[in-house]
This record gives sequence, structure tokens and C-alpha cells, in this order.
Amino acid sequence: MMPISDDRYKMVDKTMKKLNYDRSALIETLHTAQETFGYLENETLKFVARKLRLPYSKVYGVATFYHFFRLKPKGKHTVVVCMGTACYIKNAKVILEKIEERFNVNVGETTSDGLLSLLSARCVGSCSLAPIAIYDNKAIGHLSLEQSLKEAQELIQ
Ligand code: FES
Repeated sequence: MMPISDDRYKMVDKTMKKLNYDRSALIETLHTAQETFGYLENETLKFVARKLRLPYSKVYGVATFYHFFRLKPKGKHTVVVCMGTACYIKNAKVILEKIEERFNVNVGETTSDGLLSLLSARCVGSCSLAPIAIYDNKAIGHLSLEQSLKEAQELIQ
């Protein structure tokens, strides 16, 4: 399957818009960002800072202060499997479990060789293309089980 466009930033923007881009929207926005991306990476934090007109240091500070926020995992590569409803009913759970099995890693963790971190997201915003996983920021939709494993394998080679 071809990579698809990345709707994740749109999802985060929707939350900020709903809250009128008010600075007090920061925590809720970071929650949405984490649910959408699976974790919070610098690019996402910068995006939020810019949109809410907050200094990056403030956004970074909040993201690191609360234990429920997760910064970029330590693996060299990341795979984020969308587990939102639309993806879930199209086999996302099996995809996630097979990746866990094949690469000997639990979701939320990194392989012992440090090559791959596996995460899940709640909805990456492209439900019509379910099931979807994000391989190092490359979103791939209509994933088959076989392809989901192949993409992950290619990532770490
Ligand atoms: S549930 Fe997976 S993209 Fe929306």
C-alpha cells in the first residue's frame, strides 16, 4: 500500500480550535497529540507551541512534568499502530500482536537491541483508510498483516 497523507496534525489542531487556541488548552491539546501520535515528539511540541503562542520551553516543560505524557521513545525507529475503533474492527489488534510477537517487544516498549519502539495510538485521523500504522512518520493505510510486518522489518534493516 502507498503511504497516505498525514492527518495527525489536523486532529491536534481540531482540539486547539475547539478551545479557541487559548493557552489554557495546552494540557488537553497534549493529550490529543499523544493519543494521535502515540507519543510526543519535538516537532509536535513545536507545532503546539506555535499554535498556542507559547514558548517551546513551556510546552516542553509541561510535557515532561506530567507522568502521563510520553516523550519520543528511545528506539531508533518507531512503529505506531492505530487502535482506534475503525482500525480495531479491521484487524489492528492482530497486527499489533503479531508485531509484538515477531520483534519480541511489548507495546509501549523498545526492543532490547534498541532498534524498534512499538506504540499504539487512539486514532490517527484517517479512519477511511483503516487499518493504519505509522512507520517512522510514514503513514500506511489499508495494511495487511503481512505488509505490517514487512514494513517494520524494512525499517530496522
Ligand atoms: S481509528 Fe485508526 S485512523 Fe481513525
